[in-house]
Parts: sequence; C-alpha cells; structure tokens
Amino acid sequence: MQKLLRQKKKRGNKKTAICLCFFTLSYSFAIFFSGYYTSKILCQEESVKKAVEKKQNTVTVQDRPALSSISSNVRTLSWPNWPAVAKEAPQNPFVFKGDNFIHKDVRKILLEPREHWLKEFIKIYKNRPDPVNMCGIRINHALALYTTVRKIQPSLVVESGINAGVSTYFIRKAWPYTKIISTDPEPKPICEQGERWIDKSNLTTYYTGDNFIDLSQLDIRKHYREQKNPKILVFIDDHQHLVKRIPRLVQQGVKYVIVEDNYRQGEGSTTNDRIGTPKQMFSHTRGAFVKDGHWLFQNVDSYAEFPPLIPPIMAKASNEPRKADGGFMVASDKNTDIPAPILRPDLDPEDMKIYEEICNILGLDKTMLDRDSYLQFMNYNQIAFMELITLRGPIARELDIVTPPQ
Ligand SMILES: C[S@@+](CC[C@H](N)C(=O)[O-])C[C@H]1O[C@@H](n2cnc3c(N)ncnc32)[C@H](O)[C@@H]1O
Repeated sequence: MQKLLRQKKKRGNKKTAICLCFFTLSYSFAIFFSGYYTSKILCQEESVKKAVEKKQNTVTVQDRPALSSISSNVRTLSWPNWPAVAKEAPQNPFVFKGDNFIHKDVRKILLEPREHWLKEFIKIYKNRPDPVNMCGIRINHALALYTTVRKIQPSLVVESGINAGVSTYFIRKAWPYTKIISTDPEPKPICEQGERWIDKSNLTTYYTGDNFIDLSQLDIRKHYREQKNPKILVFIDDHQHLVKRIPRLVQQGVKYVIVEDNYRQGEGSTTNDRIGTPKQMFSHTRGAFVKDGHWLFQNVDSYAEFPPLIPPIMAKASNEPRKADGGFMVASDKNTDIPAPILRPDLDPEDMKIYEEICNILGLDKTMLDRDSYLQFMNYNQIAFMELITLRGPIARELDIVTPPQ
C-alpha cells in the first residue's frame, strides 16, 4: 500500500515538474515576444517621431508662417521671401500691434483643405451683385471683409458707406446669423451703379437717404441691447476721417473695426483719406499727426493689415500707370510696407494652379493685360483690422461706456 502511495506521489511530483517547466517556458516566450513587439512599436514610434520632426523643420514654400521676433525691444513681423518688415511701434511706414488672426494664420484659414474658405469665397465672389463695382470693393477688400466676418462671427455688423450694397452682400454671405446695420446718405448708388443690392433678411436695417444717421450719431447699443453675448464689428468704407470716429466706437462697446481705405502716407482719393487713416497716422514722424498716431496705437489691442491675394509682380505685363491717388499696386512696387500676399504664384507652382483656377472661374486674365483683370487684382488699400481697447471700471461706467464681453 505504502509502495503504491510513494509511486503516486512520485508521479504527482513529475506532473508538477512538467507543469512548472511548461509554465516557465511559456512565460519566457511571452516575455521575449512582448519585449520584441514593444521594442518594434517603440522603434516605429521613434521613426514616426523623427519623420514628424524632419517635416516640422522643413519650411516649404507652401508653409509660410509669419515670423515674429524681438529686435531692440520692438517686435517685428516679417515673411520669408518678402521685403516688408512690420514694427510694433508707431512712426513707422508699416506697423502692427498685438496678436490677431491675420498676423498668425490667414493663409492657413483660407487654404485649410477641410473647409477651403478661399474656394467658397471665389464662388460667392463670382455671384456678386455688381461685377464691376466701380466705386466699391473688389477682390482684395471683399476677401478681407468675408474672411474677417466669417472668423469673428459677430452678432452685429455696422457698415458705414454701402453704395451699391456689395459689401452688405459679402457680410451676409460670410455670416447669415448676424444683425447688419447699413448706413449711407445716398438713397441710390453713386457712380451710375444702377440699383442697390438690398438684403432680404429681416436681420438687416438700413439708415440711408432721408433716414440716414451718421456713424458718429448712431446708437449702436440700441441694436444689441437684447443680445446675450454681443460681438460688434464695424466696417468703415465711407471716406470720412477714420481716427476721429474711434472714441465714439469704444464708448459704444465696439470691439472689432475694419477700415477699407487704409491709404498710406501721401495717398488717398479724398481729403479725409489723405489725413485720417490708421496707416497714415502711424507713419508720420513729424508734425501734428504724430500725437494722433501714438494715441491710436495706445488705444488698440491689435492692429493688422490684411494681405493682398497675389503680389504686384503678377501684373508685370500690364501697362496701367501708377495712380496718383494710390489704392492700386503696380509690378514695380517695392513692397516694403505691405504684408506678404496670401498666394505666391510667382514662387510656388501649386499657388500658380490656384491662381489660374481663380482666373478661370472669374473669367479674368492671369497676366492682367486686360484692364478689368488689372483693376480686380491690383486694387488694394492695405485694409486694416483693429481690435479696440475695452474700457472698464467706475470711470468707464460714469462715462456711460459699454464693456463688451471678451
Ligand atoms: C466707396 S463707397 C462704398 C462701397 C461699398 N462699401 C461697397 O460695397 O462697395 C463710399 C460710400 O460712402 C458713402 N458716404 C459718404 N459719406 C458717408 C457717411 N458720412 N456715412 C456713411 N456713408 C457715407 C457714399 O455715399 C458712398 O456710397
């Protein structure tokens, strides 16, 4: 009996030993393979990481970020392959301030493949109510207005100077949910432009002709009092003295301003254009305007000039003479005081394809030999986008200044 028991125990020990052996072997295999796969995954991750790093270090012609740097305590803004350098200080021909979407990523916003705002804009531009718009905005101004409205998504846009209503059309297309207040002393368009385009949306109110109210008298607050999160944008295209309009806008709680006719020093189609634009205020180095330039610089949180669609060199075949009033680019421009264009067909074949497609859709000549194509692409007024300061505190309340939410 005892012999039988010993034999059973021996067999049991043998079984345990085999099991142990099997377990150890499987465990080693598992360790070996998991180690192998872990190291393989790590290697893969490493090579992916290296590839990403390599890509990030390569700035191709398509990736043209605006570079910001500090030099002698004044920040500067410059662009690869473009001569202009903007300075963050007044008394310079090309000034910027703070940070806003135009400094950072306007090209990216427009060409982002998922949404491709530029493509959508070109379709909308093709269907604009007045294709010539003799005394009004053309492609560079319309693109700046459309992009800014779409990006800001305001609850109320006030536009001063509407003429044939082309700017109203772009504001409505860019953001269907905004209220619009449109003002113009003229009951009908100037420059024989026929009928004014009227927005059918009940979100749009007109103060025109006999009902005209100037921006300086307009009770803007009345139009957003009921709104929970008002975001107010003013589009100014009325050829009045712009800088004098600013204090009232701050008081009315306006945060965002677009200035269409932002002529440089010495240019402008009216007296006010020649004395009252931000670009001029900022560029004066002598005389009475210097103070105004400093005042304006201190009273904006940010200031940027919207880039043109293409560079002036694309018009090298055109014989159009430089206009004394300014407002148009010519191929021989030095380009030291305007931002780098959104597209660079002169440098980048991919951008050339986009430019050619735009020309095909709009029926324009890419060489700008015909006058209409030149007027379309080269009409550019350094359109300004500003974020005004927000006044807060008891004195602001005493002065009845509205503080817009951030
Ligand atoms: C360049 S046009 C505007 C173009 C228009 N924004 C467009 O879409 O093309 C200038 C307009 O400003 C108007 N204007 C003149 N003085 C004005 C004022 N104080 N307030 C508003 N508009 C004014 C003129 O009657 C004219 O229709």
